[in-house]
Amino acid sequence: MCGIVGAISKDKNILPILITGLKNLEYRGYDSAGVAYFENNKICITKVTGKVDNLVQKISDDDSSKIGIAHTRWATHGKATTVNAHPHKVGHITIVHNGIIENFEEIKEKLSQCGYSFKTSTDSEIAAALLNYYYEEYNNIEKAIESFMKEAKGSYAISLLIDNDQNNLYCLKKESPLIIATGNNFNIIASDIRAILKYTNKYYILDDFEYAKVNNSEIIIKNSKGLVLNKELKEYTHENKENSKGHYKHYMLKEIMEQSKTIADTAIPYIDDGIASLLTMPDLTKYNAIDIVGCGTAYHAGLVAKYLFQEITNTKCNVYLASEYRYQNNFLSKDTLTIFISQSGETADTIAALKLVKSNNLPSLGIINVENSSMTFLVDQCLYTKAGSEIAVASTKAYTAQVTMLSLLALSHAYRNKTLKEKEVLEVLKEFKNISNLITPLLDKKNIYQSIAKEIYNEDDIFYIGRGLDYVLSMEGALKLKEISYIHSEAYAAGELKHGTISLVKKNTPVLCSATNDKLNPKTVSNLKEVLARGAKVYLITDDSYNDPAFNIINIPKANIFIKPLLIVIPYQLIAYYTADLKGTDIDKPKNLAKSVTVE
Ligand code: G6P
Repeated sequence: MCGIVGAISKDKNILPILITGLKNLEYRGYDSAGVAYFENNKICITKVTGKVDNLVQKISDDDSSKIGIAHTRWATHGKATTVNAHPHKVGHITIVHNGIIENFEEIKEKLSQCGYSFKTSTDSEIAAALLNYYYEEYNNIEKAIESFMKEAKGSYAISLLIDNDQNNLYCLKKESPLIIATGNNFNIIASDIRAILKYTNKYYILDDFEYAKVNNSEIIIKNSKGLVLNKELKEYTHENKENSKGHYKHYMLKEIMEQSKTIADTAIPYIDDGIASLLTMPDLTKYNAIDIVGCGTAYHAGLVAKYLFQEITNTKCNVYLASEYRYQNNFLSKDTLTIFISQSGETADTIAALKLVKSNNLPSLGIINVENSSMTFLVDQCLYTKAGSEIAVASTKAYTAQVTMLSLLALSHAYRNKTLKEKEVLEVLKEFKNISNLITPLLDKKNIYQSIAKEIYNEDDIFYIGRGLDYVLSMEGALKLKEISYIHSEAYAAGELKHGTISLVKKNTPVLCSATNDKLNPKTVSNLKEVLARGAKVYLITDDSYNDPAFNIINIPKANIFIKPLLIVIPYQLIAYYTADLKGTDIDKPKNLAKSVTVE
């Protein structure tokens, strides 16, 4: 994971570029940060634990440099300590690294025998040492990089400085993203063009096994054999709105509250002109089955789609965690469409699964939020969700945008394969047009969510149950709560609880449940009685008319099956938010997590 930036300028101080870049890259990790730059012919390195703001405090207004590299870390190898923070300097080479060097043990062993010793527990220090080893052997950094590329396994985006060379930055890439942006008398290396748009929008994308020499006026990109490449200069033209929290205490709350709009924005192109606009959705009738791949919340959105495709459109649909999909027998077939869901478009496991499908020449569709992200260039076809930029690590509006897109995709399929009649499809479209009126009242029930939060925020374990679609939503509810409140929360199929987990239910254990399926509700209510009999406190989200005083009821409006998930999730999101707020956690940047997981 981690975010990297490097900058070189003819006449300007590049430290502000490095810091701005790092702040914008914190979505990739924020457990420690560091910077290395030339000052008076010497490389100065500053490292801190915690967020980039801590680094800023260590840099004085007098510090200035025209060439430097910087890093924000999400620890993989070695704890989040100052010593393990990047940059790492070994011999003449100082690097920042994003990725994992998989054969670092082997390399470490070899270098140790050559007299190298190591100060950190990171694979990145080994990478710096290997580069230094070859640099000393050839006295030529390009040859050193080429040899490094032959030997290092795993993934890396590296930017590096060499002692005594204040005129050039170098970078190299395999599997972790890296761009080189160019401006007037300056050039910037970064994990992501959006991080440095304040300075320039023109950039080159480095592909695997490519490296570059970058000075203040020139960028020379080569392949691993040293051949100069003529790469296309790209221009990032998408809108890049400055994002502020406004009057909200956290981005997460702001993003939850934006959902009536982001759902509508995502849906509008496919609903505003009735069936005609719905039919601009890709035609899925040529496929026998649908596979869906994603991680985290995106995986949960896929599970909603599975329910709709199978139960409503009678189409076989499997949903996979990308990290599992990569390493199993998927019975790949050209008759199956694989849908990749991702907010960031950068998640390493999802990208790897997508590459697997592509290498087999099989059809792919992306449902992606971030324009121009890596996955958008790989999928055959991309449907952009319109959640806008999501800053909080715990995904909320991106999830509902994904569910919206998938629901409309399933609805278009139901129309095309005639599992729903035109009249029924029109009914759903009408409800989608009315979505704000359904969602806004749910967003406004702050008092209810806050009072539930007060009752549960001191608990150690909380269970989420449901059946069918309600079970799938309970998985997302439990994930939200654990991500930001650090309370152990698990989702179970309501009927499965008695096969083991009910042994954990004791007096006052909170059990949150949604029951919005007329056929299944009586069964779910029986399961709730079972936990009540063991002393649990039950919180029930329902569109049914229960008035059992033993249940704390949160009413949601009745809605079509295609709309329902978008309503059920709102109370779950807000209960998680207010619970975490009472606990005083760092809601937008919870510990140990990152917004975009760029290592496998
Ligand atoms: C991380 C984030 C989650 C997100 C998941 C998948 O774990 O913290 O919020 O759901 O990655 O990310 P993606 O960008 O592929 O949707």
